[in-house]
Amino acid sequence: MAVVTALPGSEAHASKLAARLGIDHVSIELRRFPDGEIYIRMDRVDDHVVIVGSLYPSPAERFLELAFLAATARDLGAKRVGLVAPYLAFMRQDVQFQPGEGVTSAYFARMVSNTVDWMVTVDPHLHRHVSLGGIYSIPTAIAHAAPAIADWVRREVKDPVLVGPDAESEQWVAAVASACQAPFVILEKTRRGDRDVSVSEPSREWNGHTPVVIDDIVSTGKTMVAATRRLREAGSAAPMCVAIHAVFADAVHDELVAAGATGIITCDTIPHASNRICVADPIAEATKRYL
Ligand code: R5P
Repeated sequence: MAVVTALPGSEAHASKLAARLGIDHVSIELRRFPDGEIYIRMDRVDDHVVIVGSLYPSPAERFLELAFLAATARDLGAKRVGLVAPYLAFMRQDVQFQPGEGVTSAYFARMVSNTVDWMVTVDPHLHRHVSLGGIYSIPTAIAHAAPAIADWVRREVKDPVLVGPDAESEQWVAAVASACQAPFVILEKTRRGDRDVSVSEPSREWNGHTPVVIDDIVSTGKTMVAATRRLREAGSAAPMCVAIHAVFADAVHDELVAAGATGIITCDTIPHASNRICVADPIAEATKRYL
């Protein structure tokens, strides 16, 4: 039999998953010693332990917690340990952009592959890595947010046109567009620095529609802000911004509204006030194959 357990901050996800899978959610004690080191204790394991943890915020610390929890589970008798990471960190450094840089997505994949037996995640940032199998040596499965986002768009937006702010976003935008039968356009993004982003001018062809800007990650929010500004400059209605992963390295909402957006909503892969779209069902479906 299997049990589900959670890294700190992912308890709600673990409960939803356990309920959908019809198995127990076992709580753990995980805290810091006064010097910052990690104390961990599990009351119960089973043959198979499913650890749920969005590896955010502070993905480096979250990884050490994951490694200690997986090792504790194995010491206590678990024969298999899987990871359900609704948000998979470290995926964006997927190539050496500058000489001498580390390709941390690949190093992180190696570390996770040495820690757990399988992994499920939601829409990882696959761009220059075309599949998780290219860097992860364990079985992996991807749950997709597009059907849930499409449901939200169908319910909430009249005459939508979906807008991808950059080439990477096309995979998600096209999937949502096909599921809700809406037109879509993809802009071109130039990133000159962490917070220095511009996007190309959109065509005015869809100006009678309501733009929905869709991206996988909102971090500093500069991508969403740049796309919003460009759309408004081209005479479009106020766009709604939708992201899968609410990373929010910076507070974004006010800047986005000042740029002319209605607001921003996200899927619940990372707990955040902007979460409006639940992806627990696709996560549970993807996890079932390993149980
Ligand atoms: C990168 O290509 C991703 O798809 C997102 O566009 C990016 O992470 C967004 O970052 P930011 O919010 O900092 O502009």
